[in-house]
Amino acid sequence: MTLKLGLIGHPISHSLSPWIHAKFIDLAGLNGEYKLYEGNPNQLPDVLTQLKQNKIDGFNVTIPYKQVVLDYLDELDSDAEILGAVNTVVNQHGKWKGYSTDGEGYVRSIIESFPSLLNKDTSVLILGAGGAARGIYRALVQKRLKRVDIANRTLDKAKELLPLGKDFTPSEVLTFHTAEKNLSQYDLIVQTTSVGMKPKVQEQIIQLDNIRKDTVVSDIVYQPIMTKILQDAKVHGARIHHGHAMLLYQGQLAFEKWTGKKLDVSHLVDELEDKLRG
Ligand code: ATR
Repeated sequence: MTLKLGLIGHPISHSLSPWIHAKFIDLAGLNGEYKLYEGNPNQLPDVLTQLKQNKIDGFNVTIPYKQVVLDYLDELDSDAEILGAVNTVVNQHGKWKGYSTDGEGYVRSIIESFPSLLNKDTSVLILGAGGAARGIYRALVQKRLKRVDIANRTLDKAKELLPLGKDFTPSEVLTFHTAEKNLSQYDLIVQTTSVGMKPKVQEQIIQLDNIRKDTVVSDIVYQPIMTKILQDAKVHGARIHHGHAMLLYQGQLAFEKWTGKKLDVSHLVDELEDKLRG
């Protein structure tokens, strides 16, 4: 049997997911394919009809369809429902069920690199409050940490995240200025905005002068691999965590949902880094 997987989004021609899932299919010892189903918003209904007719086993969803795809699903995982976004769809006997694996994939990538970092004494600062930050915030607060604060240019947007975390971990919304002043209180700083992404590689969202050396600075941007904020973190003697690891682990989680197989993918982190460095 051939496992039929794929990705919908626009544009997706440079996606790394086909490379990642080809590796996973090999590792799992399966026969399968992971195809790109590119389509603009007008073409989306036809693309999804094609996937239904092809009896696709599962697919990933990326920008700009993570919200709109909800209209085409039969069922939603509870976290995806709370987040209002889906990046993974599983075909369960003809019914499509949507999941969000970005946040948990991020948390897995951190635990893989820093196994004891996330615990009841850990304070985290998230920079940004967009779609990526929502998933990461939701997954981090569920680890019941000491606190998970959010700094964002638009404070109202950051406040919208807080209901996702109530009942789990205390959180506050901060300006970048306040975050910079209080930086020494954080064990993990997660950069989730597009600032620093190619081609704007010289941009950095906050200054790290007050950072502690044992703090981990994590950037979900992976192009370039070494963003400005990660370079700066190194200069300050702090530890760093690259963005491509999240990509790999959200994929690991998606693959697990499609096949029931939890693969050891740790060796692929360096391979993916080499690929990105070209
Ligand atoms: P994504 O879904 O990839 O997270 P998004 O929803 O567009 O993208 O969110 C972008 C995030 O990057 C937001 O937190 C945004 O800040 P605002 O809420 O104030 O718009 C942040 N962002 C983008 N460009 C920025 C910049 N030049 N300076 C500061 N923050 C920026």
